[in-house]
Amino acid sequence: MCGIVGYIGERNAPDVLIKGLKRLEYRGYDSAGIAIINGALVFKKGKGKVQNLHKMIKDSGLSGKIGIGHTRWATHGEPNDVNSHPHLSETGKIAVVHNGIIENYNTLKKQLIKRGRTFQSQTDTEVVAQLLEEILHASKGIDFEQAIQLTLKQIVGTYGLAIINADTPDCIYIARKGSPLLLGIGEGEMFIASDASPIVEYTNKVVYLDDGEMATIRQDSYSVKTIEDVSLTKEVHELAISLGEIEKAGYPHFMLKEIFEQPRSIADCMRGRISTQTHSIQLGGIEDVIDDLINARRVVIAACGTSWHSALLGEYLFEYLAKTPVEVEYASEFRYRDPLIGPGDVLLVISQSGETADTIAAMREAKKREALVLGICNVVGSTISRETDAGVFTHAGPEIGVASTKAFTAQVVVLIMMALATGKRKGVLSQQQMKGYIEELSKIPAKVEYILEHTDAAIRQMAGLFTYAPNFLYLGRSYNFPVALEGALKLKEISYIHAEGYPAAEMKHGPIALIDAMMPVVVIAATDHTNDKMISNIEEVKARKGRIISIMNDENSDVKALSEFHISIPATKDCFSPLLTVIPLQLLSYYIAVNRGCNVDQPRNLAKSVTVE
Ligand code: AGP
Repeated sequence: MCGIVGYIGERNAPDVLIKGLKRLEYRGYDSAGIAIINGALVFKKGKGKVQNLHKMIKDSGLSGKIGIGHTRWATHGEPNDVNSHPHLSETGKIAVVHNGIIENYNTLKKQLIKRGRTFQSQTDTEVVAQLLEEILHASKGIDFEQAIQLTLKQIVGTYGLAIINADTPDCIYIARKGSPLLLGIGEGEMFIASDASPIVEYTNKVVYLDDGEMATIRQDSYSVKTIEDVSLTKEVHELAISLGEIEKAGYPHFMLKEIFEQPRSIADCMRGRISTQTHSIQLGGIEDVIDDLINARRVVIAACGTSWHSALLGEYLFEYLAKTPVEVEYASEFRYRDPLIGPGDVLLVISQSGETADTIAAMREAKKREALVLGICNVVGSTISRETDAGVFTHAGPEIGVASTKAFTAQVVVLIMMALATGKRKGVLSQQQMKGYIEELSKIPAKVEYILEHTDAAIRQMAGLFTYAPNFLYLGRSYNFPVALEGALKLKEISYIHAEGYPAAEMKHGPIALIDAMMPVVVIAATDHTNDKMISNIEEVKARKGRIISIMNDENSDVKALSEFHISIPATKDCFSPLLTVIPLQLLSYYIAVNRGCNVDQPRNLAKSVTVE
């Protein structure tokens, strides 16, 4: 997704902007640029990486105290120099950077061209700069803030905008509708960014802009208004992340760091929420709504990507532990199907970033229909975390790698805790059962640690044998069917190898035709209640010379005897097994992707948070 930064203060703005854009690289992008005011408005931009932009800036000697910057993830117009941001108005006095989609840009562009304006780029964003200048020149006596408000009222779509104007060189203007923007409040300096990572090293005081709001930011002050010109007083929040958490800490990639952080992130997710003394669960964020969950006519979980895999596990967990029926939907499908959801129903949305456009839309659709909307998010202050009626944070810490790892396991832990709490409240779980679940849950961080320590080297070695496999098949049953999907997605998104996840029993309904001596088949055979059936499936693969890689419990000799490669992991309760079986799959996809020379943290075409539809 695009990234926006801005700065006004005593530092050299290009340095701050470049550093901030580097912190946003994980979001995925294809070009970058900055605009500075130092007497005149000057910009540098182009296709390629932030480091190319940095060289351009250093070679030019560009400096100044106020500026905006952008990393572009192309939506309208191919990735090239002219389409990169910032985009300027015709006079060159106004510069705009934008995250989002202006849906009516074509109509506006035609109108502006009719009125004699010329455009440089194919982007929707340039329309904002041109329209803003048109309105400013055509409406005598209005100030720049009002011109921005009038401009935004003509825009249909989503935006996070940062704007500078050479005629008001002491201000940066920002506006938000659908794409997040934060204001970082320093001492005699102000910072703007799409998320906290470019801000956290300077200040932990932030203001989150909400949809329909804009701000005028000076070096020592700021004012927030709606685009209807209503002044607002916004709460100043303290950031819950540290600089160390957004650095690689010696790992070659953020993804590997985040895989190895999972013992801690899982423990952090449970901290203060499970008690091994009283064998109880306290989820403060949803304490007041558990009865609504219990009494709901329908419970629907909606999400995208990896979070949708967590949602699938949520279905299994709520039905098994809380005897609560749950349906799972892709957020992108739910929002457009005129969903039968309303008062008395519950929609649970799951999102690491809390900014995924389709998931936000599903949330808002359900709210519009007066359902109770709950959220599971990792980013405090994110749109979903602020707009849901109640929710639970995963506390996994910043997840920088585009491929989700620790956020997934944390989401599953939250779903386990929610299902246990619901089952206990419903009276379908006895205190004795709770004791068993809670005691086992408290052992999961150590078991994850064990897996990381004892399987990492073997997986790294095995990955070398499969680096150039053209396809992979992942098979799992019950709780490990969603894990099969997740393992396949991990491999696809960072190594670009085609991979599919299937319920193991489904293999004979088609995919078995794919199996030959060239097909690696990852079988997740770590759930007791389906073990015999999994062995039958493994035999079916073996009979067709498929190359079997099994994820199995330590003592499962039957599976081991059938496998070309086996990764042994500690046993746990079947419903907790995804927390363990996914770890080797994360490592396998990571090492294969590294062997293939892929950009593991910023895979091609991908963004960390898909804030556009
Ligand atoms: C997962 O590895 C991917 N990066 C992607 O599928 C991601 O899970 C999806 O875009 C949803 O993101 P969210 O959890 O931030 O909503």
